[in-house]
Amino acid sequence: MTRLVLEGLRRTYGPTVAVDRVDLEVAQGELVALLGPSGCGKTTTLRMVAGFVAPTAGRILIGGKDVTSAPPYGRDTGMVFQGYALFPHMTVAENVGFGLEMRRVGRAERDTRIAEALRLVRLDGYGERRITQMSGGQQQRVALARALVVNPGVFLLDEPLSNLDARLRAEVRVEIRALQQRLGLTTLFVTHDQEEALTMADRMVVMDHGRVRQIGPPEELYERPADLFVAGFLGRCNTFRGRVESPGTFRAGAIALPCDGGTPGITSAMVVRPERVAIDRTTGRLPGRIAMVTYLGGLTDWHVQTDAGTVLVTRPTPTDGDALRHLAPGDPVHLDWSPAAGRLLPDENPTDPTTGVSA
Ligand SMILES: Nc1ncnc2c1ncn2[C@@H]1O[C@H](COP(=O)(O)OP(=O)(O)OP(=O)(O)O)[C@@H](O)[C@H]1O
Ligand SMILES: [Mg+2]
Repeated sequence: MTRLVLEGLRRTYGPTVAVDRVDLEVAQGELVALLGPSGCGKTTTLRMVAGFVAPTAGRILIGGKDVTSAPPYGRDTGMVFQGYALFPHMTVAENVGFGLEMRRVGRAERDTRIAEALRLVRLDGYGERRITQMSGGQQQRVALARALVVNPGVFLLDEPLSNLDARLRAEVRVEIRALQQRLGLTTLFVTHDQEEALTMADRMVVMDHGRVRQIGPPEELYERPADLFVAGFLGRCNTFRGRVESPGTFRAGAIALPCDGGTPGITSAMVVRPERVAIDRTTGRLPGRIAMVTYLGGLTDWHVQTDAGTVLVTRPTPTDGDALRHLAPGDPVHLDWSPAAGRLLPDENPTDPTTGVSA
């Protein structure tokens, strides 16, 4: 049932290694999100799959067929480009029909399929409009229709929501996911937005400097990141540096903190998600003082100064009568977490003594 296979995919530009030995399998109907910071090789990976960039090494298989050197129109892929890349001088219908024309689909069938694709993205009746007469969100739908109209075996999207405002983005996110599931489309979705990836993907691939750091379902990457890069890239975390004193106890300087198991003596890093930290006025293993309070509506962030560095705590905003309701800078508090919340990771930069919050 594997639809798309990337084997040892690599692309260099002179001395720049844009993509480095990427192995990935996407199952039929699965949505895999490629996530990573700017320049990590997401677009290059997608363009290699679509056939717009030739790999320096490696193979691409679609539906069991090696398409590594096939032209874009011989690959059974539909792509939504970063920034859409619509043709501004053409009408909506001409844009959507472009791939069909390239595939030499006859006029009558083309018109039927264009109308179908426009209906799919809820733009029926807009066919004769010029691209310049469409809003950003509508253009985004035209780009989706243009990719979908060819009934692609593999659907490729490169940051398709980045030009939309936050509200529309959240809406279209749900629409794309529903459409993808309804049509059972095998999809590779590029984004640098972790929330987008967490909410939409069956599995995620976190990339850094052309390489895959970790592949897995969203919960796994968030709860059990393989390294500090993945932990820090997906959501916020508190990072402590030190060593395991005994299984379940991590020593950061003079401070003993709960951790998830561990082998005594090993120097490592420990990460704790801010929502896993308990905060209380009187009890808890790690004493500190409030440095800053940030009200986020339903949630509140407390930055707490401790002997193990500044610790970020995120909890539902306390209601009236709750002892935490009026915590203010300078107030003493106690922090704690269950051992399972203190995840031990290899310390990639053991000479860096910093301990604290990364956002
Ligand atoms: N045509 C090119 N010539 C030279 N270098 C390139 C070319 N295309 C990409 N690169 C380089 O390859 C690396 C990966 O680029 P890529 O566009 O794949 O990143 P990305 O992850 O999509 O980033 P972003 O999130 O900013 O879109 C970057 O260092 C980039 O400068
Ligand atoms: Mg890109």
